[in-house]
Amino acid sequence: MSERNQPIGIFDSGVGGLTVVRELQKVLPQEKFIYFGDTARVPYGNKSPNTVIKFSLENIVFLLKQNVKLVVVACNTSSSLALPFIRQYFRIPIVGVVNPAVRESVYATRNMRIGVIGTRATISSGVYEQEIKRLAPTIKVFTQSCPLFVPLVEEGWWEGEVVLNIAQRYLLPLKEKTVDTLILACTHYPLLKKVIKEIMGEEVALIDSAREVAIEVRKILEEENLLYQGKRKEKEIIYFVTDKSEAFREIGEKFLGGKIKDIYEIKGG
Ligand code: DGL
Repeated sequence: MSERNQPIGIFDSGVGGLTVVRELQKVLPQEKFIYFGDTARVPYGNKSPNTVIKFSLENIVFLLKQNVKLVVVACNTSSSLALPFIRQYFRIPIVGVVNPAVRESVYATRNMRIGVIGTRATISSGVYEQEIKRLAPTIKVFTQSCPLFVPLVEEGWWEGEVVLNIAQRYLLPLKEKTVDTLILACTHYPLLKKVIKEIMGEEVALIDSAREVAIEVRKILEEENLLYQGKRKEKEIIYFVTDKSEAFREIGEKFLGGKIKDIYEIKGG
C-alpha cells in the first residue's frame, strides 16, 4: 500500500482520546483512522513516569504493526511524560497534544497569566510550564491537578451541583491568580467546559488542544506529502481496546458525538 493510503493511528489510555478523533475526522475527513484505547490499564494519570513511558511505547508499537503513517498521542499524560523521551526512536511522525495547546495559549493570553489543569502525572511533570516558558519566558504559569474530573466525566456527570462544588475547589485558587487563559490539559476536561466557564468566567479563554492537534496533523501530512489522495464516502475508523466493555461504546459515543462500530479487543498494549 502506498504510504499516503495508510491510516493515521491514535492512542489514549482509554476512551478520552475520542475528543481528539472527533476533530481529526472534521479536519481530515478523507483519512482512515485506527484508534487504540488502553482500557485495561486506564487511568494513566496517577501512574509513575516509567510506567506511562512503558505503556506508551507498547501502544505505539501496536499501532506501527497496523501500518500507520503517523501517530497521534491523544493522551495528555502520555504526551507529557513519555513523548519527550520516546519520539526519537521512531521514523514516522508522532504528534502529541502539549505543544499545539501551549502555542494557542501563548497566543491567547493578554495579561500573561496562564492556568493549566490536568491529571496528577501531567501536572507534576511540569512539561506545560516548561514549554510555555520556552516560548515566552515572562509568562506566569499556575497549575492545578484535578484528579476527580476524569471519573466524573466517565460517569456522565458533566454538570450539576456535585461537579460544580468539586470544580470550585480545584479552580477557585486559579481564578484568584487572575489567569485569563486556561489550558484544559486532559482528554476529558473539554466535556466539563460549561461548569469550568461558569466558575472561571466568560472572559477566560479555555484552550482545548483537540482542534489544534488536528490542524497540526494536517500540516505535517501536507509537508510530508502523506495526505490520502482519494475521496471517502463514509468515516473509516477501527477501534482496538485492551478491555472490551460496553462502557467504551457507551461513553465513547458521547465523546465522539457519533456511533462506534468495529471494536476489537487485543491482549496487552
Ligand atoms: N487520557 C488521560 C489524559 O489526558 C486522562 C485519563 C487517564 O488518567 O488515563 O491525561
